[in-house]
Amino acid sequence: MMKYVEKKGKVFWPTAKAKEIGLAGQDVYKRAGEDRIKFWEELARTGVDWIEPWHTAYEQKGLKFGWFLGGKLNLCYNAVDRHLDKPDQTAVIFVPESPDEKVQRISYSELFKQVNQAAGLLQKKGVKKGDVVAIYLPMIPEALVFMLACARIGAIHSVVFSAFSADALRTRIKDGGAKVLVTANYYFRKGKKINLLEQANESCRGIEIQKIVVDRAKRGRMFEKAEEVIVKPVEMDAEDAAFILYTSGTTGKPKGVMHAVGGYAVQAYWSCRDVFNLKENESMWCTADVGWITGHTYACYGPLLTGATTLIFEGLPNYPEPDRYLEVIDKEKVNVFYTAPTALRMFALDGTEHTKKYNLDSLKILGSVGEPIDEATWMWFFKNIGKSRCPVIDTYWQTETGSAVICALPGIGPFIPTYAGKPFPGIEYKIVDDNLRKVKPGKKGMLVQVPPFAPGLMRGVWKNEKRYIKYFKKGVYLAEDNAFEKGGNLRVLGRADDIIKVAGHRMSTAEIENAIAGLKGVAEAAVVSKADKLRGEVPVAFVKAKRSLTEEEVIARVVKMIGPIAKPAEVYFVEDIPKTRSGKMMRRILKALIAGEEVTNTSTLVNPGSVGEIERLVRGKV
Ligand code: PRX
Repeated sequence: MMKYVEKKGKVFWPTAKAKEIGLAGQDVYKRAGEDRIKFWEELARTGVDWIEPWHTAYEQKGLKFGWFLGGKLNLCYNAVDRHLDKPDQTAVIFVPESPDEKVQRISYSELFKQVNQAAGLLQKKGVKKGDVVAIYLPMIPEALVFMLACARIGAIHSVVFSAFSADALRTRIKDGGAKVLVTANYYFRKGKKINLLEQANESCRGIEIQKIVVDRAKRGRMFEKAEEVIVKPVEMDAEDAAFILYTSGTTGKPKGVMHAVGGYAVQAYWSCRDVFNLKENESMWCTADVGWITGHTYACYGPLLTGATTLIFEGLPNYPEPDRYLEVIDKEKVNVFYTAPTALRMFALDGTEHTKKYNLDSLKILGSVGEPIDEATWMWFFKNIGKSRCPVIDTYWQTETGSAVICALPGIGPFIPTYAGKPFPGIEYKIVDDNLRKVKPGKKGMLVQVPPFAPGLMRGVWKNEKRYIKYFKKGVYLAEDNAFEKGGNLRVLGRADDIIKVAGHRMSTAEIENAIAGLKGVAEAAVVSKADKLRGEVPVAFVKAKRSLTEEEVIARVVKMIGPIAKPAEVYFVEDIPKTRSGKMMRRILKALIAGEEVTNTSTLVNPGSVGEIERLVRGKV
């Protein structure tokens, strides 16, 4: 069995064989370092098919920047049409939730047919280049098919995670100004049929929008009997918007992060090849839902741009049996398995009884994403799933960066538990203090990206220029994460703002607060995060109520406004929320109280008595 890594001291390195088969050459950092713009030009030329070449590789005016200006291409053409020279190769493997339902394999030629049909259908509904299409679908092949269909006709997709509530979908449909909503009648979750259409219908009440409803029962075969349709891929400018994806910020309202066709295509392609070493005849299973950026880039575009196979799975990886994910990897001979630390911690709770039953010899690369991975989880992943043969690539990135931007490369290494590694060749990050001065190695600071900005970095926030500008300070992009550097490798510690990661899902405490504050009888609400062994972080709510309210009512409100993923783990009804004289809620103090830390300096508070009360409440619950 092929061994890709070996341990030297506390650090893992690629074996000689792994170096040999590594797709990113050993000199990649050197080449990129010589001239970053030229380096990206070379990647763009060799990774993506262009209809017309660009005249200017990089341009920046103030905070507005662009790549490959004048270049023309189509993302769908690059992900589908250009692989038609191997029509029978599997593009998508769809694994339904129920093990009794048949696994479906969709070849590139079949995918081409379906995408054209879907593009034709969108056109029939009047969708044109630049229009927004909301996609609210479970993990079934049509999710990818309609994303690609949008890309084909130059429509901007706005995918909304199917576990988001009707209200959350409504907010996103309205902000995006979507013309069409693509949804499904139902999907399966833990054996139960979830009526998605009911939620979709509710979200559209009073909004003028057309709907396309996929029948889950016909998944992957929606257009089986339709007459052949061919839709020409639309010529897109490199800087045209490819898609928007709503994500949480520090305000109560999600923001539509916008990506450009050219830069996104280049980075999605190259990161898939170089980070996951994904070759054309190999398969990748990214367990993220397409409703998140990880699903966009590594369940859809990345593997398809590289001409490989993407495996999508409808259900939960440990349902109906704890070893479901192992069975899928084993049966489908998955080469790259990419998941989140929370999922791994969940698998680890089941011990190694299941993992021992499988040799998982198809695996080559393991990937982790979405939240910091602790050493124990890294090692568990490495030993029990990777069988001490495969590197664990801890990929750091964000909705805003479009693809993995900090991680070790498989043929180069090193792979150090808890360290993401080096910035992707051609991208530069620094760790700085509040004055944007570089901090010394080993010292914690803010993570920032410096110009020339990466081709895949977002180009704007949908209809909100002001919010876009807030991402930058003195010309650098603020990741809003804390990190430190040691020996050239970066360790990302977590968010520096009020965003929290619950089971790897990005959530805004302000959004949850808004939801609770809108509940009748609530005077004020504050939400902070609490460390959680399994899910990394969980939200905890403090509610000042004007009438008697129950915890269930508060939770139900959050589920209604956002979705079950945002449910507070604990709800405290308090007399008062600690505040400064200017009325600012002191979340820092609440966070300390929840963590069981001592709170001393309360002199700036207008209501210091509130601290003692909350302390008693919190202790009482423990
Ligand atoms: O805090 C970082 C964390 O996830 C945030 C971005 O969340 P989102 O936009 O949903 O994208 C997640 C998937 C790309 C970051 O600001 N994060 C992501 N990956 C890592 C991470 N934190 C530590 N280590 C990682 N590998």
